[in-house]
Amino acid sequence: MQFQLMTEVLLPAVMDIEERAYRWPWTEGMFRDSLNSGYLCHVLVDAGQLLGYTVIYVAVGECHILNICVEPEKQGLGLGRMLLRHALECAVDHGAEQSFLEVRPSNLSAIRLYESMGYVQVGLRKEYYPAGDAREDALVYQADLAGFSRSK
Ligand SMILES: CC(C)(COP(=O)(O)OP(=O)(O)OC[C@H]1O[C@@H](n2cnc3c(N)ncnc32)[C@H](O)[C@@H]1OP(=O)(O)O)[C@@H](O)C(=O)NCCC(=O)NCCS
Repeated sequence: MQFQLMTEVLLPAVMDIEERAYRWPWTEGMFRDSLNSGYLCHVLVDAGQLLGYTVIYVAVGECHILNICVEPEKQGLGLGRMLLRHALECAVDHGAEQSFLEVRPSNLSAIRLYESMGYVQVGLRKEYYPAGDAREDALVYQADLAGFSRSK
């Protein structure tokens, strides 16, 4: 298994996972914009198969986790934790001292992952996400990366 930078060539494979993993997926244009904006976009591959990816944005000491996703058939095997750890290592290398992310309250597996990696809830954005006829709130999580080490 290895991490690589995401490139446009990989977008069809990324979209294949994205559209199966999320009820409200990103569009290919959102990934293209992320690549063109210089966001840090990584993929995890094994023997040519895409297993997951992260999109993060680092500026003024803050790392924002914009997307983290694992191939649905490979979830629950530790890959999400590997992807998040790798993304945070890159963020620290780019000067990040803290990290922020938003997550749906209904996304319990993601919340457990984030809390186990040191994130704490610091806010709530009302009706932030699409959710059918209604909207779903976003929980805002923050982690201090000062003590983040490559062994965590
Ligand atoms: C959220 C996501 C990235 C986690 O990746 P994963 O590979 O499934 O998670 P891991 O196997 O690395 O597990 C890491 C931790 O997450 C939690 N977790 C993972 N799957 C879980 C499940 N089904 N139920 C409860 N907790 C779960 C656990 O705390 C787990 O740690 P543990 O195994 O030590 O108990 C993945 O489920 C995913 O891609 N979901 C769809 C996209 C998404 O929702 N992204 C997050 C948007 S905010």
